[in-house]
Formats: sequence, C-alpha cells, structure tokens
Amino acid sequence: MLKPSVLTSVLAYATVGATERAATAAARFVGSGDERAADEAAIAAMHSAVDAIGMAGRVVIGEGEMDDAPMLYVGEGLGAGSGPDIDIALDPLEGATLVAKAMPNALAVLAIAPRGGLLRVPNIYMEKLAIGPGHKRGVVDLDAPAGENATRLARSRGVDVSEITVCVLDRPRHDRIIADLRRAGARIYLISDGDVAGVIHTAYPETGIDMYVGVGGAPEGVLAAAALKCVGGQFQSRLFYRNDTDRQKAARAGVTEINRRYELEDMATSDAVFAATGVTKGWLLDGVRRAGGMTHTHTLVMSSFDGTVRTIRSAAPLPG
Ligand code: FBP
Repeated sequence: MLKPSVLTSVLAYATVGATERAATAAARFVGSGDERAADEAAIAAMHSAVDAIGMAGRVVIGEGEMDDAPMLYVGEGLGAGSGPDIDIALDPLEGATLVAKAMPNALAVLAIAPRGGLLRVPNIYMEKLAIGPGHKRGVVDLDAPAGENATRLARSRGVDVSEITVCVLDRPRHDRIIADLRRAGARIYLISDGDVAGVIHTAYPETGIDMYVGVGGAPEGVLAAAALKCVGGQFQSRLFYRNDTDRQKAARAGVTEINRRYELEDMATSDAVFAATGVTKGWLLDGVRRAGGMTHTHTLVMSSFDGTVRTIRSAAPLPG
C-alpha cells in the first residue's frame, strides 16, 4: 500500500508531467474547430507520458472500452513496469469542444490511486451533486430537489439562497433542475461543457461556484471525486441509464447494484493524487501559452496522501 512518502511525491510530479504534455498537445488546436484533432493529440501525448512513469499502472477510467479506443482504453497496462500497482483515471482532454471553440475551462486531467482505489464505471452518464468543504455531512441530498439543496446549503452557510450559485451543464435534460433552482431563488452558472472543472470549483470560493448539480459523464464523475477527495467537499452520485445499451455497459464494467447511490468515499476509496493542467484559461488555471520560445503551463496537483495542494507554473522550450 502506498504511504505518504517520497514515492507518492515522485508520482505526483510524474502526473504533472503527463497533464502538462497532454495540455500542450491539445492547445495547438485551440480555436481550430477540430475537436477530434485536439483530442487525439492529447491522448497520444498523455499515453507516452504516463507509459514512462515508474509504476505498474492500469487504466480504470479512460477513453472507452478496448474495442472502441486505440489507446488509453480501460484495462490497458501503462507504466515502466516495476514500481507500485497503480490504478489510473484520465481524461487527456476534458472539454474537447471548449478547445475547438476557444472557450474557457478545458483541462487535461489525471488521477492515480493504489490498485482498487478508484471506482470503475462504464462510459455512460451519472447524476452528480457536489459541494465544497466545511459543511455537515448530508447537508445536501442527491434525492432532494435541486432548489431544496440550494436552500439547505444557504442555511448551512448562513446566507440567503440568492447568494448561492449553482453550476449546471446547459443541456435540455436539465430544464427541470434549472426551473427548480430558479423557483428557489438560487443563481445558476450554466456551462456548455467541462463538469470536472464545475465540480472542483465548488471547493474554491474564489470561483463563485457553491454547488454542482446535474447529469454528466460517469468517468468525469470519478475524476472529479478523486479531486474532491484531495481538497475536501461532498459528492454524491448514481449511474444514469438512458437505455439497455447503457445497462449492458454497466454490467460489462462489473456494476452489480445498478441503482446504487455513491458517496465520495465510494468513488475514491483510497487516497489519491489528482492533477489538472489548464488547456484554455479558466477560473482556477491559466491556459497553455507560448511566449519567448517557451510553452507555459499552469497545473493544479493535489494529494490526499499528505494533504498537499500545489499549483505549478512550468516553462518548457518549444519543440525545435
Ligand atoms: P469530453 O471529455 O468528452 O470533452 O466531455 C466534456 C463533457 O462536457 C464533460 O465534462 C461532461 O461530463 C460530458 O461532456 C457531458 O456529456 P454531454 O455532452 O453528452 O452532455
């Protein structure tokens, strides 16, 4: 079992190298309109970077099932072989559309944990509810209406509900949630993509986001849970099935209790390291920037092993 040690610090720095490289590769396509090219560049860069890390890694959250993804598929073994047994969750480009359209908050994201430490979920949707740290457990409830949760959170904060801002993906499937939040009087911050950032922002008051609610990708849910595990907060979720194909995917991923409600501790069962590098500028991280012959990156890396949260600005020479 990994302990807070030089080893976890070394792994944390290695994850930073991987997200920096994926972000740098994707950033070449900011504003290009080509989300696929951005995604492919990030995937290839992250693959080679993660594969060089000294660990016996296994992808548990990746680019899909083996038949659908040439690289970084679930189950792929990665790493330089010798070293600790590690589970890897990654999204080389979280928000490919944001990159294609030069919109904010696109990230390259990677989490690692000891083997078995991250929930394995299928590539389907998930209901999510997240708040930042500092509240009594259970102050919000996945099964309560969104407006009621905003009101409860306001009460816990000692403020009026009109001072609570809720981040929601702008999708027709959220019309009911949005109407309910409006009725309750909460503010709504609609995002077009990127709910990993949306969840993480709940832990950072400077972003102005107090709560995240809605249905988004299940893999992104596990990544966001790994982040909140490091920085604090509450996260509740449940897999969301649109059809039988989704149910079959869940069965293939080994899900037995298909309607189980997960808490943060069920999604990130062990300590974890989480890293995210900004591809485009966001609330917490700057995007990749090229200046003076160098590529500049901005990365958030945190570890629940030792409770550290670091932001790292790096500069690397542009490829000649
Ligand atoms: P990508 O990683 O594929 O770019 O996902 C972006 C994203 O917005 C996620 O943040 C979110 O969980 C998911 O897509 C929502 O899916 P959909 O666009 O189908 O509503």
